[in-house]
Amino acid sequence: MSTATSSRPSEEPVRLVHVGLGDWGTNWERHAIPPVPEVDRVALVDPHEPTLRAAQETFGVPDAACFTSLDAALGAVRADAVLLTTPMTTHVPFALEALAAGAHVLVEKPFAGTVAEAREAVEVAERAGLTLQVSQNYRSYPAPQEARRLLRAGAVGELSAVAVDFRRWDHDAPAGASRHYDFPHPLLFDMAIHHVDLLRMITGRDAVEVYAKVMDPPWSRYREEASAALTVEMTGGLVVSYRGSWVSRAPQTAWAGRWSLEGSDGHLAFTSRGGEGPDDDELELTTATGPGAGEPRRVELARPALWGRSAGLRAFAAAVRGGPAPETTGRDNLGSVALMEAAARSAASGRVEAVEQVGQVQRVQEEQA
Ligand SMILES: NC(=O)c1ccc[n+]([C@@H]2O[C@H](COP(=O)([O-])OP(=O)(O)OC[C@H]3O[C@@H](n4cnc5c(N)ncnc54)[C@H](O)[C@@H]3O)[C@@H](O)[C@H]2O)c1
Repeated sequence: MSTATSSRPSEEPVRLVHVGLGDWGTNWERHAIPPVPEVDRVALVDPHEPTLRAAQETFGVPDAACFTSLDAALGAVRADAVLLTTPMTTHVPFALEALAAGAHVLVEKPFAGTVAEAREAVEVAERAGLTLQVSQNYRSYPAPQEARRLLRAGAVGELSAVAVDFRRWDHDAPAGASRHYDFPHPLLFDMAIHHVDLLRMITGRDAVEVYAKVMDPPWSRYREEASAALTVEMTGGLVVSYRGSWVSRAPQTAWAGRWSLEGSDGHLAFTSRGGEGPDDDELELTTATGPGAGEPRRVELARPALWGRSAGLRAFAAAVRGGPAPETTGRDNLGSVALMEAAARSAASGRVEAVEQVGQVQRVQEEQA
């Protein structure tokens, strides 16, 4: 029997069950959760006993708060919410289990491999009046936040073209020696989901159709695509060129990539998430008229008190305590999953694929205007 509650008094910390203590889940415990006093992580769950015990020891968690199943944890511990840092294929099944027990859910990207699967969890959460949020941590960094603000303020006029480049070299391990080589859609699902989600956030538009071409070299050790070029049409006819690669020997980009946003009156260029913190973010604005016209001008970026996952976790806790819905609700994220899913479909079919119209970015912005 669950002891979860549907909302939390605003002065009490949100009691969080954390499922998945692999590489990234451990990193959450070490870096993302501690700066957020609004949450109290009350239990750890991992079905892999040695992983669970290693995390228990590292973080000094008592036996009574360590479990090999979510069901056991929710039955034994008073909790308000569940954090999922498990592999993608388990996200929706775990989310449904948590929601059924009356717990709010914060889930790592990618939410799910298909819109159909993700939508089921979204609808269950909405019916139950519970928060379901996707951790799209790249949104909470200074450069994309400022890019969105400047675009909305008309700093480059009417947006006419967007180009994004992501390049890393993750190919040093011999064949068979890296888990990454065997990931399902290591570029599109594991990485490009961040970039397509930023694209929707920054432009305030959803994708309409996409053409994806896998461009892996013959020596790639990845089972599925390690690199791809996408041409995406967004609402309003805006065309986006995206190139992403795990096997690039060209100069490496920051994790959020290098962005170029051209408009009728100027140009914005930014890069973000060089490391874990916000200090490597950079943004340049070039205006066509006025003082310094034609010269790229570095824009000072404010350093946020919290960024990335911690900022999202704080927004999640606020929502659970009866505050506003977070920006990256499961419902909002359907638009990002739809583009990711259509890109994978296009890569397989060799054709331009329509993107399922599920996003609400534009509607939300129109309501806010
Ligand atoms: N936002 C980011 O920047 C970022 C970075 C890295 C990873 N991630 C995401 O975090 C999630 C976890 O990634 P990871 O690299 O830590 O993976 P991982 O494989 O290292 O760890 C996953 C953990 O989940 C556990 N687990 C719980 N239930 C499971 C089940 N039913 N089946 C299999 N394993 C189960 C595994 O035992 C393992 O300890 C993924 O969704 C990944 O995309 C996000």
